[in-house]
Amino acid sequence: MLLGSVGVALTCLLVLGGVAADVYLHVPRGSNNRLRERTDTRTKAKRLFDSQNNNRGGYNVGDQTDLPSGRYQEKQYKMKYFQSGPWKTQSDGKGRSYLNVEWTNQHGCGGNENTSPQKQNCALVLQYLCQDEDSAIASPDALRNGYVIKKPVYTKPNKRNIDMNRKSRDVKPYLGLHETWDWYNKCYLRERNKGLFTSDQKLKATKNLGYSSAIHTRQNPNGNRYGYECPEERDYHPYWHPTPWVDVAVLAENASMCSHYQTKSFNVQPYHECIHPNGWSRYNNKEACTSHGGRWLLLHNYLEKAKDRRSKSACERTKTSGLTYHWAVAYDSKDYRPECLVKLHAPDCTEAPWSRSNHLGNGRDGNPLSYKWTLPYFPSAKTKRCVFRIRYNISTDDYDPYHTDYMQSGRYPNTWVPSWLAPPIRQNPYVYIMKQMSPLRLAINTAQFGRVFQDRSHVFQLKPRKDNIPSEPVLHNLNVRGKRGNIVQVYPAVEYDFAPTELRIKLGNLVHIQWTGSNTHRNEGVGGDGQAGSDGEGMPETDRNNLVEMTDRSGNFPTPYEQSTMWDNVEVVWIYHGKKNLDKRDLAINMASSGYYWCAQWQKCQRESVEGKQKMSYLLDNAPASFEGAVLKFTKRGTYHFMCTRNNNFSNRSQKAAIIVE
Ligand SMILES: *[C@@H]1O[C@H](CO)[C@@H](O)[C@H](O)[C@H]1NC(C)=O
Ligand SMILES: *[C@@H]1O[C@H](CO)[C@@H](O)[C@H](O)[C@H]1NC(C)=O
Ligand SMILES: *[C@@H]1O[C@H](CO)[C@@H](O)[C@H](O)[C@H]1NC(C)=O
Ligand SMILES: *[C@@H]1O[C@H](CO)[C@@H](O)[C@H](O)[C@H]1NC(C)=O
Repeated sequence: MLLGSVGVALTCLLVLGGVAADVYLHVPRGSNNRLRERTDTRTKAKRLFDSQNNNRGGYNVGDQTDLPSGRYQEKQYKMKYFQSGPWKTQSDGKGRSYLNVEWTNQHGCGGNENTSPQKQNCALVLQYLCQDEDSAIASPDALRNGYVIKKPVYTKPNKRNIDMNRKSRDVKPYLGLHETWDWYNKCYLRERNKGLFTSDQKLKATKNLGYSSAIHTRQNPNGNRYGYECPEERDYHPYWHPTPWVDVAVLAENASMCSHYQTKSFNVQPYHECIHPNGWSRYNNKEACTSHGGRWLLLHNYLEKAKDRRSKSACERTKTSGLTYHWAVAYDSKDYRPECLVKLHAPDCTEAPWSRSNHLGNGRDGNPLSYKWTLPYFPSAKTKRCVFRIRYNISTDDYDPYHTDYMQSGRYPNTWVPSWLAPPIRQNPYVYIMKQMSPLRLAINTAQFGRVFQDRSHVFQLKPRKDNIPSEPVLHNLNVRGKRGNIVQVYPAVEYDFAPTELRIKLGNLVHIQWTGSNTHRNEGVGGDGQAGSDGEGMPETDRNNLVEMTDRSGNFPTPYEQSTMWDNVEVVWIYHGKKNLDKRDLAINMASSGYYWCAQWQKCQRESVEGKQKMSYLLDNAPASFEGAVLKFTKRGTYHFMCTRNNNFSNRSQKAAIIVE
């Protein structure tokens, strides 16, 4: 390995091979950098992260009410998922909260056996980032969607002056933020890993610095900035320095790669960083760091900090089911002193689910590509504010990604060079197929041959199981995917549906029913191609959902309340408005009206009742776009079918689903 590259064993130095291919999150809804724009395409592709996806992708942030949240960030809706309860053992499954994450990826993945050979190699990396909701208030580092559709500000440092006051000038509460300003600043200052394969891309020196830093990579040779994301960290995983992300799962090209991902994950493997007293951390290896007066520190990731454990012994004595505590220096420590950290588990790892090339759609058997995420359990019982991230990494067999490094990089014009001098791939090369024939040109962009795509959720909350939600039962989430429009208008998003469309649960399990939508889906493009417009029922631009029982999904009529069975066979364990004295009929009304009404009669819920409130539009126009819903316990076996009365439109759209209690 080249001197000046990091001191960590880098078994995989590179990437390659590939084609344009996008990844879009549908549950939780991926932003693809959209916020609330009333346009067919996102307007700021660099707002929070580098997706490399098509500009038309993504969902607007959810609105709480029937009106656009506009300049009121607090009127945006954050999805609220209940955390898992404490686990007794890793395997008994009790107390887990599941969120079925769904996405589409364009170029196929997984199942690379003879019967369905893939045209590329692929891996998916699923991660989250959380902070305490209460500490986020008024912090410049608070995770937020922002309400102004602009990229956060970063003022470049001067050659000899780091000027940390730049942060307070740059960071604005109305602009979205995922990674912190300090994270990007570190990346901007740290030399890039020169052991990486860069092909024939020329990586520039960083502005004002005189050396090339980690903002320059083969995929981002010009060092473009996307939010406060660090390009080198974005392109490589597992990363060899500390990162703010927690690994949920790696869906690998081949299960034989899993031990690599699980042992190298920053969840379980601490990494070094150079800490310099003047705040200028240029060096990325021990030797250069210490010889320039820095400290080469081993830093740890954590599930959360146990702030009430103030000594090593108090910390390490702590036992919570399934979790261990240790006294160590956190990656985001301000003073680099040890504190009590709750350890993370290694990420889950399996082979990626199979999907087909050139097809932004479902996987095997017509099921959406999905991963059943077991939401974390936080022993502090605090509400967390979080974002979720998925990266889709594709490469080809044109050469071995794990054994090609900087030695094979080079920069050559499109002329023939001896093979021992040529890098394994070159920009748009010419190839001879036959001696007699003139050459053919291949479309190869070495910045994209081996490429990572990304999508991220808007900000959501992970809430502790408080307020009557018992910690033992398994909890499932039932949400809605899709946005307003017909199949071409929403593409590459999807049409409305419940998610999952068939939720299989066990008797006594809990289901949290919840949805979110926007009031600003204006899809007015050039028109004429059928892609402009946002067909759907009710007021233009608005998403609405509701849930009413039906007898069977082959029909299109809801069951009259008197004949319904679902509401008889559930217990309300928790409901967002907290009213206790409401009956099954009230629950049915609440679900059918997306929370517009809480109950039928004035005596029970006054102004929120059918008797006390202005009439709801039969298309839910004046009902809220998002619904915090209820956690229900299913007490009788059976299949319960339901639909959304507004969006279901036979032959055009089908929004029907079932909960199957086994
Ligand atoms: C997975 O890797 C193993 C070991 O490298 C190899 O034998 C196997 O063929 C691979 N499987 C697939 C589907 O590529
Ligand atoms: C993508 O795959 C390459 C190997 O082809 C690897 O070097 C790189 O770290 C991966 N990046 C991410 C973000 O998974
Ligand atoms: C059903 O959908 C089609 C196509 O989007 C639309 O033209 C029609 O008006 C819808 N029906 C109703 C009752 O809204
Ligand atoms: C479905 O959409 C077509 C136009 O796209 C429309 O003619 C038809 O009436 C719609 N079906 C219903 C039930 O509205």
